[in-house]
Amino acid sequence: MGKKRLVSGIQPTGRMHLGNYLGAIQNWVSLQDDYESFFMIVDLHALTSVYEDPSQLRKSKRELAIDLLASGVDPEKACLFYQSEVVEHAELHLYLSMVTPLSWLERVPTYKGKIAELKEKDLHTYGFLGYPVLQAADILLYQGDVVPVGKDQLPHLELARQIVRRFNHLYKTDFPEADESLTHFPLLPGLDGRKMSKSYKNTIPLSSTPEEITALVLKMTTDPQRVRRNDPGNPEVCSVFSYHKLFNTEYSLKKIDAQCRAGSIGCVDCKQQCAALIVDKLATFREKRAYFEANPDIVDAVLDRGAKRASEVAKDTMKCVKKVIGL
Ligand code: AMP
Ligand code: TRP
Repeated sequence: MGKKRLVSGIQPTGRMHLGNYLGAIQNWVSLQDDYESFFMIVDLHALTSVYEDPSQLRKSKRELAIDLLASGVDPEKACLFYQSEVVEHAELHLYLSMVTPLSWLERVPTYKGKIAELKEKDLHTYGFLGYPVLQAADILLYQGDVVPVGKDQLPHLELARQIVRRFNHLYKTDFPEADESLTHFPLLPGLDGRKMSKSYKNTIPLSSTPEEITALVLKMTTDPQRVRRNDPGNPEVCSVFSYHKLFNTEYSLKKIDAQCRAGSIGCVDCKQQCAALIVDKLATFREKRAYFEANPDIVDAVLDRGAKRASEVAKDTMKCVKKVIGL
């Protein structure tokens, strides 16, 4: 018995941040040992929302590839590639679009949600409506068994399963309906206390220097009731404390909790300790990132090899898909 297949994707829209790393990528890295893994940088998905100005796309894709390699995605174990380099994604997307009822797409909560959230963009396009169909194609192309994602992606996965079910029913095939592997990591708050997200501009980008990390953490909002340095604080409502919970030792955590409640540690001190922990956590990442930045040929070779391997698998699936449809 071969290994089960794992498929996941990440959009190259902006710099990868600490939330992506802790919430998604660390999970990819820990799963790549146990599965035959396909990790794609989904530039076609990105195009659905940046089509009016794709000038940053090439750079963002490359930065993301470097971030993923520096995070520990291992090309000896997993196949890493740009989605658009494997043309079968676009092809299968078209076939799946034939069997996908419009109402299924209009019902997806992220559809109306994103249009409302990204008001400055015109997302009333055929391509944007079809975003989840393209995602279903990403998974079906590799006949993925398991898809590691965050909770926000569950509606897309449910739809992907529905589409495969319909395809199997219509064409008497037996393609797998992929299961999610939910990341249990809680949502990381951003600098302003809301969920860390590119759209809120409240992130700590992974590629920040130690100085930049410190400057960002110093800007974080803390307990709003704590106005003067000696005021007692409430760590439960403070995002800096939630970072301490993630990165600090049990002993230091208790100490900071007590000091904050007693008003004996200032927010600046507390933030400086927090920044040092993040800088430390990302030490290996920074080292590896510098290596890949200095060796662009290695990055190119990894992505080329990834696309070649992915294409082989994708071509096999497409042969079967075209045959059963009768083309
Ligand atoms: P995004 O870049 O927002 O599309 O996120 C890509 C993936 O990273 C998501 O599916 C989540 O699993 C994860 N992620 C994004 N933001 C956070 C966050 N603030 N905390 C934890 N995980 C996150
Ligand atoms: N829509 C996913 C996100 O924004 C990215 C994605 C595209 C994906 N294709 C995929 C995730 C296939 C898992 C499997 O996070």
